[in-house]
Amino acid sequence: MKVATKGLEDVIVADSEICYIDGEKGILSYRGYPIEQLGDNATFEEVIYLLWHGKLPNRAELDAFNKELASVRELPKPVLDLITSAPPEAHPMDVLRTAVSALAFYDPEVEVPSREANLRKAARLVAQTPTIIAAFNRSRNELPIVEPMKDKSLAENFLYMLAGQEMMPVLTRVLDVCLVLHADHDLNASTFAARVAVSTLADIYCGVTAAIGTLKGPLHGGANTRVMEMLIEIGELEKVEDYIHNLLDKKGRVMGVGHRVYKTMDPRARILKQYSKWMSEHGCGPLWYSMLTKIEEMMHNEKGLDPNVDFYSASVYYCMGVPLDLYTALFAMSRMAGWTAHILEQLSDNRLIRPITDYKGPLNKRFVPIDNR
Ligand code: ACO
Repeated sequence: MKVATKGLEDVIVADSEICYIDGEKGILSYRGYPIEQLGDNATFEEVIYLLWHGKLPNRAELDAFNKELASVRELPKPVLDLITSAPPEAHPMDVLRTAVSALAFYDPEVEVPSREANLRKAARLVAQTPTIIAAFNRSRNELPIVEPMKDKSLAENFLYMLAGQEMMPVLTRVLDVCLVLHADHDLNASTFAARVAVSTLADIYCGVTAAIGTLKGPLHGGANTRVMEMLIEIGELEKVEDYIHNLLDKKGRVMGVGHRVYKTMDPRARILKQYSKWMSEHGCGPLWYSMLTKIEEMMHNEKGLDPNVDFYSASVYYCMGVPLDLYTALFAMSRMAGWTAHILEQLSDNRLIRPITDYKGPLNKRFVPIDNR
């Protein structure tokens, strides 16, 4: 007898060569490279190339790839107008979802299904996502839009477009590491949504638009903003214990903690914890980091749950001066690489994804005319 697996936990729905996770041991690798090595050594651009092509680029390939990405950052004028006409109070993830969807109108290759065309579209999507996020943030603050630079890395260009000036190299490096760490994570909910959408042979824009909508939820990428909101609400280290006990007593969830796959600390959280600590010691002050480590300790001891990627990234973004409601959009900016890698992989050996439910309702009811109901 077939039995439903709620939340599709542990259900294998595809073979993949992109991302390996061992949830028991806390291991993550992209295309065979441990996340720790990539976080220490790789640029985000190298990681995008790795995810799409299955190998690290050599110098010439990386130079060409960097040039390609930098050359397609600009948005079609109507998409920029759409962004600047969005209400300032709109959620950045809603603006991102709408703008990314609208990019399809202006992409002459939208319906071209070849891998080469999809790689070009993926490059445009990765390159244009930061432009959308920065443009909306400037527009809602009534600041002039900053045009993307025609060179420099994605991280450096994004911070420049956001702030309207070049940022300290150390901040660019920290953002670049965050982008590397968030770039892919196997069949998480948003990536699954992307693969489901394109398995119908809908275009790549349909896939990533579905993914952005899925990432927004607080049980997924939306948790990072809520972690920081929680810290600000708690306000003092001495209040952490009461706050967390209160929340758990009310069966509430501590955001940024727990994971469907990891049964130990998320390796990305382990890396981000070091950056959170470093930032606390270099200008941000000790409060956020000390609160986070206290919450981590409590949740581990009392619930057996450990931090996920959204836990320490929240304080890192806060210390970088990123507005709270942009955190999930930054996540999307990075995960665009993984979503498109999975879309390419899905399309290379596609079969419609179409699971079934275990129907529990009644059968053989008799239709009753409306006047007799
Ligand atoms: N705080 C408190 N309790 C929790 C938490 C948490 N963060 N996470 C899980 N639990 C508890 C649940 O209440 C449940 O307890 P119960 O059995 O007594 O009811 C038990 O652990 C199992 O929870 P499920 O929701 O069934 O576990 P699932 O594997 O579906 O949860 C999830 C994974 C959604 C990430 C969960 O841990 C959670 O809600 N975390 C907080 C939100 C969050 O940080 N999301 C980001 C995840 S990482 C990412 O998507 C990028």
